[in-house]
Amino acid sequence: KKFILKGTVVENRSLNDSYYLLRVVIAPEVLKQGFLPLPGQFVQVEADVSGAFLRRPISVCDFDEHKGLLDLLVQKVGIATHQWADYGQGASIDLIAPLGKGFTLESRWVGTSPLLVGGGVGIAPLLYLSKRLSQQGITPNILLGARTSDLIVLEEEFAQYGHLFYTTEDGSKGERGFVTNHSVWQCKHSSIFTCGPLPMMKAVVALAKKGDYPCEVSLENRMACGIGACLCCVEKTTEGHLCACTEGPVFNREKLLW
Ligand code: FES
Repeated sequence: KKFILKGTVVENRSLNDSYYLLRVVIAPEVLKQGFLPLPGQFVQVEADVSGAFLRRPISVCDFDEHKGLLDLLVQKVGIATHQWADYGQGASIDLIAPLGKGFTLESRWVGTSPLLVGGGVGIAPLLYLSKRLSQQGITPNILLGARTSDLIVLEEEFAQYGHLFYTTEDGSKGERGFVTNHSVWQCKHSSIFTCGPLPMMKAVVALAKKGDYPCEVSLENRMACGIGACLCCVEKTTEGHLCACTEGPVFNREKLLW
């Protein structure tokens, strides 16, 4: 079930020059109606850009269903995302949520030792995924990659739910290089979940294929409407052209023509 709702900003925390964490509270009556985003789903957030309202898709980074707190990790990339960076406590934001299809959480699919691989702002859905896995009694390995150490964020939050590993391109944190070179790949995993820049995800899928691992990928295709109407997010798959906003953003690697 999708909701069109108003959320109220309770915290807006700058994490570094590019990222901030927007925490929004969802009204209790909306929670009572069954509002519950799943890991991998996203929300459309409204922005008032030059007098025109438009929406931008942001993945659910965390959700506390008891307190109704929705966390969104946002990268400053355009007018809208710069605008929300200035939103203070009490600001009202208009959301459509939850949207899209999320990660598979069934334990028989996930297995006992999943590996979560995230890069850049793509780590966002993996935080909520690792929380839900840990609630199921599963402790994932979590591998985060970035260009340099200041671009690695939410470490404390991730550390609550799994074993953390890092790569940075300049070697300022964890192993130097790309996520696909990290030594954690030498361990056997039961499944792989990934979200991040396209070349990274393609390289992760190649490793998943090589190891014959089940793997889900959260695509970051450009989106506009978020509801399957504009077709700008289309991905070619084994089942034809599918909208990443309605049939994804999470896809099984076997469906992707990579
Ligand atoms: Fe418009 Fe997917 S974003 S169809």
